[in-house]
Amino acid sequence: MLSPLLLAAAKSARTRSAVTSFPATRRVVDRFVAGETLQDAVATTRELLADGRRVTLDHLGEGTTERAQAEAVAAAYTDLLRALAEAGLADRAEVSVKLSALGQALPADGERVALDLARQVCAAADAAGTTVTLDMEDHTTVDSTLSVLRELRSDFPWTGAVLQSMLRRTEADARDLAVAGSRVRLVKGAYAEPASVAFRSGEEVDAAYVRCLGTLFRGPGYPMVGSHDPALVAEAERLARETGRAPGTYEFQMLYGIRTGEQRRIARSGRTMRVYVPYGTDWYGYFMRRLAERPANVAFFLRSFVPG
Ligand code: FDA
Repeated sequence: MLSPLLLAAAKSARTRSAVTSFPATRRVVDRFVAGETLQDAVATTRELLADGRRVTLDHLGEGTTERAQAEAVAAAYTDLLRALAEAGLADRAEVSVKLSALGQALPADGERVALDLARQVCAAADAAGTTVTLDMEDHTTVDSTLSVLRELRSDFPWTGAVLQSMLRRTEADARDLAVAGSRVRLVKGAYAEPASVAFRSGEEVDAAYVRCLGTLFRGPGYPMVGSHDPALVAEAERLARETGRAPGTYEFQMLYGIRTGEQRRIARSGRTMRVYVPYGTDWYGYFMRRLAERPANVAFFLRSFVPG
């Protein structure tokens, strides 16, 4: 019952202002967010790379309603990519981008604005020698995001995308994207979705994840296993053995601050472990989705308000 409430709160301006105004919130946010500035992002990237993990950086923000703001987000990514290249980190650190932050939801020509700005980000990534992955947002954006992906891949074939196993359509999308050169991060899905388009039970979402993972591992693309679920990590390891994939032909991905010991274990075992590192000031929506994923996080959050 708590998760739908938190996901609804993630979209509420009133709750946003209440949650973000408590000084104590910051301590909990720090567990999931690497800091507010480009310098924080680069410093965290350096630390993670030093112990053998790789990184995908997310400049926090979503649901942009003004073109100028979308352009500012694209510029922030361009600056970040330049900084990563200058610091010699871009060979192991890429970026993740939400198209809604680049204007996808703007009235009239939102998808075109997002495509143009995503092209700028991809060109900056290309110059830096790294890649871009398009995050996936709620189900109403999937067709548009996959269409932008197709356009971007014609100039930047390494552009990656995210598929969410909770959506009923995803098995078909996984088949379409299981092609040579394609990079797909498979996740369970973090948005509140109606039963008409999404599986409701955890068992169904997990079973769909296993089916989609099989499609991706058996295809010629590059699967990215975006999950902290031990059963799904084990399934990916089993599929890698079954399909004879070498360690560099797929990767594991986890979120900053979640199952850090497991991240290190996988990296030490010689397989690729990439950490999704969000940074920036617009952390509210991301933070609320992390609370919604795990009721224990809410208790931790509430305890942070108790002094001492
Ligand atoms: P599950 O939720 O079952 O968690 C398994 C275990 O992991 C838990 O038992 C707990 O130990 C730990 N855990 C998971 N979430 C936690 C949390 N918030 N706090 C503390 N512990 C936690 N979604 C989306 O819709 N679009 C996207 O683009 C992305 N991108 C993305 C990138 C990467 C790299 C990852 C790992 C995930 C995403 N997600 C996402 C989020 C994803 O959809 C999903 O909500 C979370 O990964 C949680 O699902 P798990 O597969 O980890 O399993």
